[in-house]
Amino acid sequence: MDLAVLATVARDAVREAADYVRRRLHEPIEAMRKSERGDLVTEVDRTVERMIVERVLRAFPDHGILGEEGVFTRAEAPSPDVPLWVIDPIDGTTNFVHQRINFVLSLAVYQGGEGLVGIVYDPLRDEWFEARRGEGATLNGRPIRVRPNADRLEEALVVTSLFWSRYAERFGLTDKIRELGRRVRGMRLYGAAALELAYVACGRLDGYFSPSLSPWDFAAGALLVKEAGGMVTTVDGKPLSLEGRTTVLAGAPAIYRALRGYLEPSLADKGGERNARQDS
Ligand code: IPD
Ligand code: CA
Ligand code: CA
Ligand code: CA
Repeated sequence: MDLAVLATVARDAVREAADYVRRRLHEPIEAMRKSERGDLVTEVDRTVERMIVERVLRAFPDHGILGEEGVFTRAEAPSPDVPLWVIDPIDGTTNFVHQRINFVLSLAVYQGGEGLVGIVYDPLRDEWFEARRGEGATLNGRPIRVRPNADRLEEALVVTSLFWSRYAERFGLTDKIRELGRRVRGMRLYGAAALELAYVACGRLDGYFSPSLSPWDFAAGALLVKEAGGMVTTVDGKPLSLEGRTTVLAGAPAIYRALRGYLEPSLADKGGERNARQDS
């Protein structure tokens, strides 16, 4: 499948959905709880996903679809020859509800487990991150790279949501993360994984770790990081799989390696990757 054709449909879908989101920003938006108190969904999330799915299926009726809100799913056993569209209609829903900023639309196309096209769009800052397999990554049309001299943890800005997650507590990792916090230049947390991965890709951040993300959270962002010269895997160095929740470790190469060396032994001791599937 021609990457340019996929990218054109992806772009049109995200652009149209983002216009809708911008219009809705000035109206009241009702938030509903999906499970726990931090897990929200709004009618905007669902409408965005529906808009994207409709556009994709109009262009490619037989393609697979995997979207967070499940408005339409056909991804159980995607054939390796059929592209799978992975949609996070609004990544950072809590920010969307509370702040009306720091959220993005995220859309990726994968085939046989490999990312072909990834788009992360921040509609308020009008920042369009895009990557295509083997062709690099761009921000508003300009090539981006992970930060070139990101070599030392001591000079790195790192994102992790591990600190206060139940996962950290259960596996006694809070001290380890506190210690990491003292070693790096700074910790950041924007509350939107796709945005954070896009920031790693363009060098605003140097490292990213999450103990548990779903495929739609990282699908586009991971391709951005890879195409921008960074590394992205599970915490134990395996390729990311779209099959369920997983740990995600990303960064400029030296920072990725340093973080992995720091985190992997403790996580491996405690059952690491397996636990990502159970909880966050
Ligand atoms: C969430 C954000 C957040 C991450 C959570 C995700 P949502 O996505 O990406 O950064 O830590 O695990 O669920 O629900 O806002 O799309
Ligand atoms: Ca959500
Ligand atoms: Ca998400
Ligand atoms: Ca979402």
